[in-house]
Amino acid sequence: MATNVVCDKTVEFELTSSFHLTDDDVSQLWGGLQHNVHWRSAFDDVLLSTRVSLNGVKKQLDTKDLRSYHAARDALFPLATSGTQGATTFRNRAGYKLMESMEVTGVWEQVTKLCKQNGWRQAAFADVCGGPGAFSQALYATVPKYFSSKRSIRGYGMTLLNEGDDTLQWYPNLTGNKQFFVLHGTEGTGNIYPTENLHSLMAVTRDPSWPLLLVVADGGFDVPFDVAEYQEAISLRIVYGQWVSAVLTLMRGGCLVLKLFDTFTPFLRSMLYLSTALYDRVHIVKPKHSRVVNSERYLVCLGFRGCSASMREYLLKVHEEGFGEDTAPFALVPHATVSHDAAFCAQVEAFNATLASTQSQALQMVLASPLLTEAAGSGAAIASAEAEVSTPVAQEQDDDAAIDSTIAAE
Ligand SMILES: C[S@@+](CC[C@H](N)C(=O)[O-])C[C@H]1O[C@@H](n2cnc3c(N)ncnc32)[C@H](O)[C@@H]1O
Repeated sequence: MATNVVCDKTVEFELTSSFHLTDDDVSQLWGGLQHNVHWRSAFDDVLLSTRVSLNGVKKQLDTKDLRSYHAARDALFPLATSGTQGATTFRNRAGYKLMESMEVTGVWEQVTKLCKQNGWRQAAFADVCGGPGAFSQALYATVPKYFSSKRSIRGYGMTLLNEGDDTLQWYPNLTGNKQFFVLHGTEGTGNIYPTENLHSLMAVTRDPSWPLLLVVADGGFDVPFDVAEYQEAISLRIVYGQWVSAVLTLMRGGCLVLKLFDTFTPFLRSMLYLSTALYDRVHIVKPKHSRVVNSERYLVCLGFRGCSASMREYLLKVHEEGFGEDTAPFALVPHATVSHDAAFCAQVEAFNATLASTQSQALQMVLASPLLTEAAGSGAAIASAEAEVSTPVAQEQDDDAAIDSTIAAE
């Protein structure tokens, strides 16, 4: 019997740098940025061949039948299965992905250490772009394992209000929880793009009796099939909005878990570089419940070091003025600065190459499966299915409904 070369397993990489920007350097950053770059032009040549070859494998799926693709994928990688079949405790893959990312990096240990050191009996988390709320549910469900019963946890949730579509709104067991606070921001939409909404998130969560020690962020939106290979570039604004939300709200020592897609753009490379300056530890995690065939991975940062006034001002300016409908800054820190740190660049290339190679191999295993058949019409849905943003959440709704009755509201 043939042995699978790739299987469901959690992989983790640590990133370090010798970040050396002074406050003076930071005040020059905005002027040195290349602004208004369209998402089609958001890439440079770093890891070009890896990116092109991965996209080439993905393209081979274009003509395949979606149903047969799911059958082949789920047979090869059982943890990828949506809902109850792939998850037996939370009955939802999203919760597993969060917990696996936190476990392998020691996030709960960091949070409990902070509470012990400071004598805090209460702590808070923020779930940004988190509707319908599987991450928050998973946090409440695992609190008893890590938190002594003498301590309490409070959650804040900010997610986009989709008029007329309730599928991505917070689950009833969260809205019914007295220690879960739904925030819509000053502008009232839950959208993290208007800077005023981030200011109100900051104001509400800055409660010294409930120190904010954890930000979890899983934001995303559907990317049209024909531009699925640009998912990372198209998603820069939402990724940055969540990342900066953590910088603005976390207490010193706090942690961030943030979903990323591919990490080939200079923008994300420089965001990772800044992360190494702002946090004690920075990891990239591909948890075992995250489909090995897709580009999803998590940035996990521990031990927030605080942020200088000039850095905060710069990051807010990027948030407020840096993004247009289809545009973003090319990078947050000039390429020359990042590339000067050869060790950091080598780490980024290594984790990108490893994840891309595993993903390519997994997709090739699916392509070789006898279960996979040609589509009668267009097989276009496959690439967008693997872009995996809101569709899978909708698929897992039934299972999430089951969670509602199993997790006791705090
Ligand atoms: C993949 S879903 C999150 C799933 C969630 N973690 C869970 O497991 O239940 C992505 C979420 O990001 C939200 N979102 C997209 N754009 C947003 C924006 N600009 N501001 C706030 N939320 C946004 C979507 O409405 C959706 O609720």
